Amino acid sequence: MNILIINGPNLNLLGKRKPEVYGNESFESYFDRMKVDGVALSYFQSNIEGEIIDAIQREDIDGIVLNAGAYTHTSIGIRDAIEAVDTPVVEVHISNVCNRESFRHTSYITPVCVGSILGLGLKGYDLAIEYLKS
Ligand code: DQA
Repeated sequence: MNILIINGPNLNLLGKRKPEVYGNESFESYFDRMKVDGVALSYFQSNIEGEIIDAIQREDIDGIVLNAGAYTHTSIGIRDAIEAVDTPVVEVHISNVCNRESFRHTSYITPVCVGSILGLGLKGYDLAIEYLKS
């Protein structure tokens, strides 16, 4: 089973960006320690909306874990891509976006994802993979 983790804008700065909100570890370092039996995991990060859409449209992937970052709150294009493919997509946010500024309370993608995990830190990615594997 092939699972793709997609991180959107500014998530390349994890470990440096607002550590009080997003923690001290880079995603690359976390990803290196991730291992799930029976799952081929890959990771893609982009600050560019169209590249994230292209990744969602890949046909060689069985499940996607998506943290669309700020595009969560703005992107109809990413929402349409999720809706257009058969690949199940789990939405993940490191922080609890519902406890933060009101502009983060709206997600354009929640209605088209199979489920969402908020506020559980990087552990949320593991939980999403566990679900997709089941
Ligand atoms: C985030 C929450 C978003 O509101 C923010 O723009 C991010 C990160 C999270 O993982 O908590 O870039 O998706």
